[in-house]
Amino acid sequence: MATPVLDKVEKDSAASPYITVTFRIRRFNPEVTDEAQWQDFTIEIDPKERVLDGLHKIKWDVDGSLTFRRSCAHGICGSDAMRINGKNRLACKTLIKDINPEKPITVEPIKGMTVLKDLVVDMEPFFQAYRDVMPFLVTSGNEPTRERLQSAEDRERFDDTTKCILCAACTSSCPVFWNDGQYFGPAAIVNAHRFIFDSRDEAGEQRLEILNDKDGVWRCRTTFNCTDACPRGIEVTKAIAEVKRALITRRF
Ligand code: SF4
Ligand code: FES
Repeated sequence: MATPVLDKVEKDSAASPYITVTFRIRRFNPEVTDEAQWQDFTIEIDPKERVLDGLHKIKWDVDGSLTFRRSCAHGICGSDAMRINGKNRLACKTLIKDINPEKPITVEPIKGMTVLKDLVVDMEPFFQAYRDVMPFLVTSGNEPTRERLQSAEDRERFDDTTKCILCAACTSSCPVFWNDGQYFGPAAIVNAHRFIFDSRDEAGEQRLEILNDKDGVWRCRTTFNCTDACPRGIEVTKAIAEVKRALITRRF
């Protein structure tokens, strides 16, 4: 494809913070072609801006057909996970200056999921696995008249896994998931962990049985890709190991 060049920014050459950066983006439009292909866009951008800002510049000023998801732009909604320079990251949390802007910055959709258009993948199987582990508090008995109390120690037990923003960076970096999309994947296990180890919840056994399935937690090969990929710093592999241990000991 041709290389569009954007150079509309007025700059005072000496003081300008702008540099020229090439974004090499994996593009796919099922209405036009069966094959994805790379397209280069060269723009002027402040290296202190984020990859998401670069994608916005391209979409708004060069090619409005460029398609990607984003919402909060501040690392909270989890909608802009993508493969940037070969690594899963949130575009809104990745500064241009931190990823060697002297070379083309590659941007691709996350792996292991069907690409719908450009950087947008079908997240439905991912969210189905999430729903399957019952990611909500299950209790029996009458509604309490006040909050359900929990000690600081009991809360600490699952604090790490409450931080998940369902971005899928972990699941889509997992080689087991690449080979077999039936695997529940790290994110679903992280969200099961969040409730299994919650002292107020009563469905831990049920969730463990769901993850005892052939596509469940035993498929994990402890490659640590998930932990490396998580933009929230969650110790994903550790959480998976704790769920495995709970399955063996039935103590949680
Ligand atoms: S565990 Fe981390 S990488 Fe995985 S979905 Fe949650 S926030 Fe994203
Ligand atoms: S746009 Fe919400 S996490 Fe990046």
